[in-house]
Amino acid sequence: MTKSIVVLGTQWGDEGKGKIVDLLARDMDAVVRFQGGHNAGHTLVIDGHKTVLHLIPSGILNQDAQCLIGNGVVVSLEALKAETESLESKGVNVRSRLGISPACPIIMPYHELLDHAREKAKGDKAIGTTGRGIGPAYEDKVSRRGIRFSDLYNPGLLAEKLEETLDFHNFVLEKYFDMQGLVFDRVLDDALQLGACFSDLVTDVSGELHRLRSEGKRILYEGAQGSLLDIDHGTYPFVTSSNTTIGAVCTGAGVGPDAIDYVLGITKAYTTRVGSGPFPTELFDDIGAGIAKRGDEFGATTGRPRRCGWLDAVALRRAAHTNGLSGFCVTKLDVLDGVETIKVGVAYRLNGELIDVPPQNPEAWDHLEAVYESFPGWQDSTRGITQYDDLPANAKAYIAAMESLCGAPVHMISTGPDRKENIILKHPLD
Ligand code: GDP
Ligand code: IMO
Ligand code: MG
Repeated sequence: MTKSIVVLGTQWGDEGKGKIVDLLARDMDAVVRFQGGHNAGHTLVIDGHKTVLHLIPSGILNQDAQCLIGNGVVVSLEALKAETESLESKGVNVRSRLGISPACPIIMPYHELLDHAREKAKGDKAIGTTGRGIGPAYEDKVSRRGIRFSDLYNPGLLAEKLEETLDFHNFVLEKYFDMQGLVFDRVLDDALQLGACFSDLVTDVSGELHRLRSEGKRILYEGAQGSLLDIDHGTYPFVTSSNTTIGAVCTGAGVGPDAIDYVLGITKAYTTRVGSGPFPTELFDDIGAGIAKRGDEFGATTGRPRRCGWLDAVALRRAAHTNGLSGFCVTKLDVLDGVETIKVGVAYRLNGELIDVPPQNPEAWDHLEAVYESFPGWQDSTRGITQYDDLPANAKAYIAAMESLCGAPVHMISTGPDRKENIILKHPLD
């Protein structure tokens, strides 16, 4: 019997993970974030009311779901405070249901400064980060000089660690970037003050998950970003600084592989990307502009316009096998309504040769040319359809083609942003 589900993005993020996590959370006892930070922007629409979550798991609007932030998540205290307050002002009870691992690395003010300074220095080679300090915070974690959530409750230790770390980062800010460094007392006081707001949320997430599992509870692991932004498997260096693929569930939540029963890969019916980097199926014409407009393709975190293109089945096949996907959920099918001919990238041409898997060396991505297969579009609206039989014949044929091209069956289809606009072919818990 399926007890635990993982929801992962299979493209460059913004596939609609938040919407699907919220939908599935109705039947879950706990929802867990295990990587990323407030670079994520997960949009939930319930009866027309929109909520965008960045750090707090997308189960928070389901009253009975416990929400956990695992050790793999980098936590900004300011973002956590703002999000908690915003939700609580709308009557959502956050504090009694949220737990945060003491091992979470903290995103400190210098991380954000460094993120911006580096991007600026890179000029037209900038990655186009969200500017949230994600990369520098993960770097501090692996270099073993990071501040962890538990340190906030040990002022002596925090001061000792901060002194060393800030000294290092101030040197870089002042001497390399010619900026002003930060004042130790101020950074320390702010961290202690913000930390004090969350002392009751410190939770041994790994231990809690073990307990929940032993009681037979249902757990959903909520991925952020997408497979192509993975630090190892993505379009490096135009990626985020965490693993966004399946392995991160185990390391970022503290569970074993036997804790995963089903892996749901979310994909749009087309492709989008925010920030720089290769995008073989990108559209630069009116069709792309139409998709961007109908899909309201603006970043949920930074508001930046998202680049749009055709579905890339080559990249999706890779995502299906690197993540061991049990099934796909195809979102935003309705956005393709009215497109006369829909194309899907089914192979790449690289130096005159046809390849059907994405190359592993990042430099090759810049030279890929997508090879397409065309499918007839549909003119009727699919918006809000909840029964598969009600889909236009060409939409059904497109979904069938996706199944055979992308390496895993389609188990869910999303036909609008609202929680209730879905076709469920096979529920992950069944
Ligand atoms: P996430 O980061 O993967 O959670 O995705 P985002 O929330 O950043 O972006 C997805 C956007 O598409 C949001 O604005 C959602 O409200 C919207 N959305 C999700 N599913 C659908 C769908 O099936 N149709 C349409 N039209 N919009 C959708
Ligand atoms: P969700 O969870 C889309 C992208 C940024 C940039 C790169 C590195 O909403 O799908 P970072 O700030 O992480 O160092 O930026 O990753 N990026 C996302 N793109 N959706 C996201 O999250 C993203 N999180 C980061 O645009 O290209
Ligand atoms: Mg998003």
